[in-house]
Amino acid sequence: MCGIIGYCGNKPAAPVVLEGLKCLEYRGYDSVGVAILCDAQLLIRKDAGKIEEVSEKHGLDSLPGNIAIGHTRWATHGSVTQANAHPHSDCSGRIAVVHNGIIENYQELRQELISQGHRFSSETDSEVIPHLLEDELKSGCSLEEAVLAIAPKLEGSYAFLVLSRDDSGKIVGTRKNNPLVIGADGHAYYVSSDALAFSQYTNQVITLRDTEVVILTSDKIEFLDAAGNRLTKQSEELDSSWAGNHKDGYPFFMLKEIMEQPQVLSKTAYQDERKFTDIALDILRARQVIITACGTSRYASLVGRYLFSKVGKKFCDVVMASEFGYFADSVDKNTLVIAVSQSGETADVIEGVKAARDAGAEIVSIVNRPNSILADLSHQVIPLNCGPEIGVAATKTFLSQLAVFYLLSFSMVNSFDKACIQLSDMSSKITEALNCNNDGLIKLSQELKDKNNFYYIARGINFAIASEGALKLKEISYIHAEGMPAGELKHGTLALIEQDTPVVVICPADYAYSETLSNAIEAKSRGAYIIAVSDKESDIYDFWIKIPEVDELLYPMVAVVPLQLLAYYMAVSRGYDPDKPRNLAKSVTVK
Ligand code: AGP
Ligand code: GLU
Repeated sequence: MCGIIGYCGNKPAAPVVLEGLKCLEYRGYDSVGVAILCDAQLLIRKDAGKIEEVSEKHGLDSLPGNIAIGHTRWATHGSVTQANAHPHSDCSGRIAVVHNGIIENYQELRQELISQGHRFSSETDSEVIPHLLEDELKSGCSLEEAVLAIAPKLEGSYAFLVLSRDDSGKIVGTRKNNPLVIGADGHAYYVSSDALAFSQYTNQVITLRDTEVVILTSDKIEFLDAAGNRLTKQSEELDSSWAGNHKDGYPFFMLKEIMEQPQVLSKTAYQDERKFTDIALDILRARQVIITACGTSRYASLVGRYLFSKVGKKFCDVVMASEFGYFADSVDKNTLVIAVSQSGETADVIEGVKAARDAGAEIVSIVNRPNSILADLSHQVIPLNCGPEIGVAATKTFLSQLAVFYLLSFSMVNSFDKACIQLSDMSSKITEALNCNNDGLIKLSQELKDKNNFYYIARGINFAIASEGALKLKEISYIHAEGMPAGELKHGTLALIEQDTPVVVICPADYAYSETLSNAIEAKSRGAYIIAVSDKESDIYDFWIKIPEVDELLYPMVAVVPLQLLAYYMAVSRGYDPDKPRNLAKSVTVK
């Protein structure tokens, strides 16, 4: 889940690489490193810590040279130490490599290399790459020839960039299952895991495909296929919404992203009616429909499942992407798979989709990142149009995913237009749900910040909002939280309710109101402190998060936003950075 970047041009490379790494920090932020070529010297500086700290400690900003590669790490193999930080080098220190992914057969390769006399300095899987390159380069081949020669030996997933003292003046990169994009601005070339890292210099982006190789020098870029043949690749224009990477005055990206949801909703609702009608027909015709996703995207899918059933009268299943492979036996050409992913990079989702595609299934994806790996693998792509989401905790993309499911389900009954009109009214309702709760939630978070356990309950279409509310709280404030259907509480979890245990009840005035309220009363009778998310008042609430009255199928949208705010204020009250929660990264590109 690391972020990698390379720069070749006429400017000092280090500041460009560091700025780029800051944009990639959402992908990993436990260690940082840079390798730079200057007067045929290869300098490598790296350490554990955040970019600012490491940069200051090692003077990264002032390293001389016009060609550099950089890395921001989210450790998978080897603890968070200076030795394990990237770039990694060979025995002679003449090669530097930054890698995103996992080399699954690294133990075998490492043993073989050690038996041939190679000395390793880290515990990472990544370090086999420079040592394999070292052997190839001894034969006098070029850096790109060496990369082409070793790539077939690597199992797993990778995007990596290489610098060599012996074939200096260039950066060579390749990928398999992890992203790599290239940009050019007339004076320089950039390569990175995400175009966001260089979007301030150019909006023209070339996407590298699996097994292709890119060679960057200060005056040209070249592409090769896996056999070493030259390739011509076209650039695409990056949507202007992807150029922004600023907090716009907010203290954290997460708050900015929560607050921009009313505008984001309008952008998401701007979709191609024809495409939605075609996909809706495919959904209705398919023998079985499986939605697959992880985390927040899965909770949006659960809301989608209720909408498909309620509006389109179509039953479908939602399968956690990490478990999808275990159902592979029942996927065939009559299956339609809807893959939902903000990043379009989540390894579990990608793997399931590849297997389903191979089995003949039709793939429809709902993604935020244009040109992502998932988008490439899909027969039909529905974009979320949210622009970059930097906070690790997904917020605005969740709301957009709900909107897409809403449009899809209404398209099943030929009512795309009706859904668009309903959604256009929702922007003001979401603004209302945010504004009328902000101050109250700040106070509530102060009151509850030392609690250790939260429970979130709801019924029907809002059940997934209970799970999403709990996930938000867990991931950024590190408080244990569980979300569940309200009816399940008495089947076990009720045993954990004690005096003043916070129980968040999502109980809008919909078809499930009375039953949900009964479950809240059961919890209150055992001492629970009831925080209700509702448009309807009741004496049993200890704290009322008021939401506007909307159509009952749209309650998930207005119910989730104050729960995002609650999680945000809890994290801030406890002194945590909500944008960079411990142990987590935004794009989970490893299994
Ligand atoms: C959301 O707040 C989490 N960071 C996480 O659960 C996330 O939704 C999950 O990893 C899926 O990511 P994706 O949508 O990019 O596939
Ligand atoms: N496996 C490498 C490491 O642990 C890269 C990690 C990643 O891309 O997430 O350093």
